[in-house]
Amino acid sequence: MFKEELIKEMKNYFGDDQRRIEHALQVTNYAERLIKLYQGDDINPEVIIYSAILHDIGIHQAEKKYNSPAGKYQEIEGPPIAKEILTSFDINKELIEEICQIIGHHHSPGTIKTTNFKLLYDADWLVNLPEEYGLENQKKPLAEVIDKIYLSDVAKSLAKSLFIKSFS
Ligand SMILES: [Fe+2]
Repeated sequence: MFKEELIKEMKNYFGDDQRRIEHALQVTNYAERLIKLYQGDDINPEVIIYSAILHDIGIHQAEKKYNSPAGKYQEIEGPPIAKEILTSFDINKELIEEICQIIGHHHSPGTIKTTNFKLLYDADWLVNLPEEYGLENQKKPLAEVIDKIYLSDVAKSLAKSLFIKSFS
C-alpha cells in the first residue's frame, strides 16, 4: 500500500490549497469506512483508496485552463496528473489504468459499473452531501435523496445513520 506516499504527493501538488487537501483526506476516510463495511469480495481497496486520494487532482488545471472547476474539466485534467504520480511508485499498470478511469468519470456515474467505482463515488458524496444540500429544510425527505444519490447499499445505510437523526 502506498497510501501515505500518495497523500504526501497529493499535499505537495495542492500546495497551500488546504481546502482541497482536507477534502481529499475526508473522502479517503469515508472510502476506508465503506471498504470495511462492504461485504462482497469484488473490490480492490488499493484502487479505491488511491482513487480517493487523487480523485480531484485535476481541479487546479481545470481552473487554470478553462477558468472553471466544473466536474467535466476535472475529469479531463485529472487522469494524466494522477498517472504521472502513480507511475512513480511500484504500482501495477492495470491498477493505474483503472484508477485513472475512475478519476476520469467520478462526476459521471453509470459508465463504470464496478464496485470500486461505486465506493469512491459514494465516499465523495458522503463528504459533499452535507455541504451541497442543507441537511435541514429538505423539500424532499432526506432518505429519498440518499437513495437516489448513492450507488452502493453500504453508503446508503451509512449516509442515513450519519445524516438522519432519527436513524441512529
Ligand atoms: Fe471530490
